[in-house]
Formats: sequence, C-alpha cells, structure tokens
Amino acid sequence: MRRGRAARAAAPFPEGFVWGVAASAYQIEGAAHEDGRGPSVWDVFARKPGAVFEGHTGDVACDHYHRYKEDVALMKALGVTSYRFSVSWPRVLPDGVGAPNPKGIDFYSRLVDELLASGIQPLCTLFHWDLPQALYVRGGWTNRDSAEWLAAFAMLMADKLSDRVSVWTTYNEPQCFVGLGLLDGTHAPGDKLGLAGYLAAAHNVLRAHGKAVQGLRARAVRPLKVGYVIAAQVTQPATLAKEDIEAAEQAIFAVREPNQWNNTWWTDPVLLGKYPEDGLSLFGKDAPHEAEASRDLEEMRQPLDFIGLNIYTASTYRRGADGKPERLAVPAGHPRSAVDWQPIMPECLYWGPRFFHRRYGLPVIITENGLSTRDQVFLDGKVHDSQRVDYLHRVLLELSRAIAEGVPVTGYYHWSLLDNFEWADGYKQRFGLVYVDYPTEKRLPKDSFDFYREVIASSGRSLLGKTTLPAGRVTPG
Ligand code: FCB
Repeated sequence: MRRGRAARAAAPFPEGFVWGVAASAYQIEGAAHEDGRGPSVWDVFARKPGAVFEGHTGDVACDHYHRYKEDVALMKALGVTSYRFSVSWPRVLPDGVGAPNPKGIDFYSRLVDELLASGIQPLCTLFHWDLPQALYVRGGWTNRDSAEWLAAFAMLMADKLSDRVSVWTTYNEPQCFVGLGLLDGTHAPGDKLGLAGYLAAAHNVLRAHGKAVQGLRARAVRPLKVGYVIAAQVTQPATLAKEDIEAAEQAIFAVREPNQWNNTWWTDPVLLGKYPEDGLSLFGKDAPHEAEASRDLEEMRQPLDFIGLNIYTASTYRRGADGKPERLAVPAGHPRSAVDWQPIMPECLYWGPRFFHRRYGLPVIITENGLSTRDQVFLDGKVHDSQRVDYLHRVLLELSRAIAEGVPVTGYYHWSLLDNFEWADGYKQRFGLVYVDYPTEKRLPKDSFDFYREVIASSGRSLLGKTTLPAGRVTPG
C-alpha cells in the first residue's frame, strides 16, 4: 500500500473477528478401524443396504487421521484463525464409557498442538453424531444414563485438552442426530421411534447437554467458553414492512409441526429453562412428562458463553390475511445449491443472528455456513466453483450488515475446508473450499479458497466494491 493515499474503507469485520473452517470427525478422519477405535452408529448404518448414496462409508473419507498436518497447513495458507473439529467418541472411548483409548486421545492432542503451532485456535465440538455403537446397544439416547455417558466423555476430554483448547460446544445440531436419526430414520442409527419415543430421547439429549457443560467446566484447568450449536431454522421477512419482520420473528421461534424442524424446542430448555408452550400443546401427551421434565429442566439450563448457529438458508414469511405468519413458497426457478434443502437465501446470515440475539441475548458464532456445488477439475487443472464464491460474497456482506447494526457475532466458520462424507448423501456432495480427489486423496484448493483467503486477509474489505445489484440487495433471483 503506498503512503499518502486516502484512508482505506473501514473494514466490514471488526478486529479480532474469528475466521474459521469447520469439519467433523466421521466426515473426514477415516481410519475407522485403526488404533483401537470402536465402531460408531454411522459405521453400522453406512453398511445397511440403501442407507447411504451408493453404499459410501466413512472408512477412509479424507484420510485426515493420517493427513492432518497437510490439512492444518492448508488452513494456515488460508489464513483462518480458528478450526472447529469434533472428537470421535468411539475413538477415545471405544466402548463409549470405561477405559479410554490412549492412541485415540493422542490423535486429538497432536491435532491441537499442530493447530496452535500454526497460530490456529481450536474449537472443539464434543459430539457430532458418531455415537459409539456400544452405547446404542444399551439404548443410546433413549436411556436416561446417556446424560452420564456424555458427561463422562466431556470430563475426559476436558482433562486431556482444556490446557490448550478454550472454546467448546457440546453438540452439533441435535435436531439432526435426534430427528433424522430417531424419528425419520434417514440418518444413523436409522430408527423411527414415533413422536413420543423421539421426544423422550430428545429430552435425554438436552439433559446430557447440561451435564456435559457442568462436566467440562468442573474439570477444565482454566476457564472455558462453552456454547451449544443448533441447525438454525432461519426465517426472513418477505418485505421490510414492520408486520412482515414481526411475522418472520414469530415464525422463527414457533413450534408449528410435529417434527424436529424448529428452534425453540432445542434452545428454550437450554437457554431459558423451559419447553416452549406452543410445542407442549402441539405435542400433547407425547411431550415429556411434566413432573419429570421440571426437575430436569433446571439441569438443562447451564450458563453458556455463546450460541452457535449453523445457517445455510432461510424460509420466507409475511403477515398473512389472518394476521398470523404465512410461509411463502420458494419462487419457481430460484437459485439453488446442489442439495435439495438449500435454496440460496444470503439474508439468512443477517436475519438469523439478529433474531437469535434478540431472544437469547448471547453472543453468536456462525459455527457453520457453506454451499454444495457440483465441482470438478476443469481442463486447466483448477476447480472453478464460482457459485460458492458468489454465495460466500453475498452471505458475508449480509453478516457484516448484522454486525454493523450491533449484533454481537464474534466468528464465522465455513463448512468446510475439505470436500467430505456428507452423511446419507455420501461423497455426492462437495462442500469444500478444497477439492478432494478421493482415489488419490489429493487436495486441490478451489477458487473459493483464494476468495476466502482474501476476505480474511482484508477483514472483509475485498467484499466491497461494485456489484450489478441495486444497493443493499444481495438475494439472487
Ligand atoms: C450440517 C452438518 C454438517 C454438514 C453440513 C453440510 O447440517 O452439521 O455435518 O453435513 O450440514
């Protein structure tokens, strides 16, 4: 930069803003049968005929278990200041409880050391869906003891890593591992428990969260920041009219359908110490028994330092003719990513943090956001993922707008560094900033990698500049 030029534009992201990438153990590690790792429900589920696209499994995945140094070097080249990873529970506790596996623990210890040596702060997610099969056999989350199991796992990890890891979350997206896993049966372990059974399991999951927070804090060798990560079901208003904004805000905190796709059933107990009234009346006799629930609710609600929001899209609401929130269909032909559930709605990163902060008052971390595209290596040897670049550009502008208006968003983690095992979709989906050629495990940074690197290096200044859209508009279509 030459001296004497006009002062640079103010950076859209504040100093100290945390730039990250996120991943999870089963999706990238591989080494499923190595060094004493026990089986998880995903190892078993992936082998069920028809459960996962073309029978893919996480047996090898990105082979991150052996290539973590190369992957951390990629993060360093990207310039991220933090990495969100998860611990494979059956790698460190092959039976789920009892004797720990020193080799498994050593892997996470080496990973954390490598990150710190590269100037990257670790954010540890305890549980990202890979429940030890040994615990599933004992009832999994339907067993009330699951709260003690998770707490013991949390204490073990605090003993081993809290000297170096200061930011933790208990879960990733309880809606998915409970709802998809135990109600819909489309994710591991593939059960369909019915509404009452599913809600009872969810209740234990919420209890376990509380006990795990207590366990983490009790055993930590220094104060930790602890949060809770949900699959945020974000709404956005159809227009900026006050009544539409109110409708969207009502809808985001409503329980309207007898399934897992809401926010408050998962966040109110943890952050407010009660189940939402609309959910209780919708679920009726299937909801957890009141007397029991009231004792447990106190345990679920533990002081937290942040709420982690995984945000990929939004649904649109306006105030309907009856005065209630009315959901609008996604317009025909609206841009979409490669996964069915993701119409491109960049304002999700504006409205989501704004609404959640207003209700719960906690700082927000965007613990996941990203896009699946049909990537391939082009004839020039590069991966031109222009749709991801454009998406990232739009969502980050929206996020900066929320921050400028005073919403305390302290970090953003892109999902994901690498293409990886996308659950029931196997390797069909590619969410990475880095392309993975699975037969060779070669990593090839995509165009979006360079784009994100510039964003980070310039604290978002590279996002500013001309677009063809009218001022303030970022939603395509
Ligand atoms: C989220 C999951 C994550 C990944 C992304 C695409 O729901 O937390 O593991 O699958 O979606």
